Amino acid sequence: MSGNRPDMAADFTIEQDWRSYGEDEHAIWRLLFERQQKLLIGRACGEYLEGLDALGVAAGGIPDFGRLSDVLERTTGWRIVAVPGLVPDAVFFAHLSRRRFPSTCFIRRRDQLDYLQEPDVFHDICGHVPLLMNPVFADYMQAYGEGGLKAQGLGHLQRLARLYWYTVEFGLVTTPEGLRIYGSGILSSAGESAYCLDDSSPHRLGFDLRRVMRTGYNIDRFQQTYFVIDDFEQLFAATRPDFAPIYREIAAMPDIEPGAVLSCDREFAVGAKGKKMGRSESAAQV
Ligand code: PHE
Ligand code: CO
Repeated sequence: MSGNRPDMAADFTIEQDWRSYGEDEHAIWRLLFERQQKLLIGRACGEYLEGLDALGVAAGGIPDFGRLSDVLERTTGWRIVAVPGLVPDAVFFAHLSRRRFPSTCFIRRRDQLDYLQEPDVFHDICGHVPLLMNPVFADYMQAYGEGGLKAQGLGHLQRLARLYWYTVEFGLVTTPEGLRIYGSGILSSAGESAYCLDDSSPHRLGFDLRRVMRTGYNIDRFQQTYFVIDDFEQLFAATRPDFAPIYREIAAMPDIEPGAVLSCDREFAVGAKGKKMGRSESAAQV
């Protein structure tokens, strides 16, 4: 987080000040963008690639949030607000609940192209914002913000944060052509965008709300498990019920290790073209 910047408003927003970016910062964006473009064709879900295209996010340089927000607002009613870094949870949720996506402005250094533990403008804009052009995903993100404020009041934020992690940040989706990426943490990472689909070590398990909310995660390495949704409608429908009784129900159950597979899990095989396979079948393929 950012300390007390004199230019920061009470809701933690600042000005992006697009004119203050230097040529080297735009050049870093170009490097990152061009590298991801090559990797994401055939790996990112169609909704993401369409959103990117419609927004005009491209290799040219770090985009102006005002320009992107005008396109977004016309399409799904969302706007981007600039923040200096991670903001308190309650502030983050309040922005989402008002269809405002808090985005960092700074870009990583050249020696951090492959990995950065905190979000930067490339992760936030190139990873998150394109999916906000999709009406169902846009509604899901707003509902998540409202759900975050509620979970905080109930003392179950950890469970809800796992849902965000395994969907918004690291989610996979089935398509007729095979599994595709929609999670922003993957979409902005060169290494993980190949690893999550092509490598035989991580598990790819069918999405189940309670299962996800019981599963811990690693923040400093590639994921051991990805959860796979059928489509955004399924995700939104599964998260529509009141979570209060669900939080109580899973509070009595043990957590699940990030790399564990349970007998009730539906595991997808590498290269399974989106088909669900039994565990023994999938083991025979990897
Ligand atoms: N239905 C959830 C609740 O009652 C809110 C929510 C919606 C949370 C979508 C996450 C995603 O808390
Ligand atoms: Co993120």
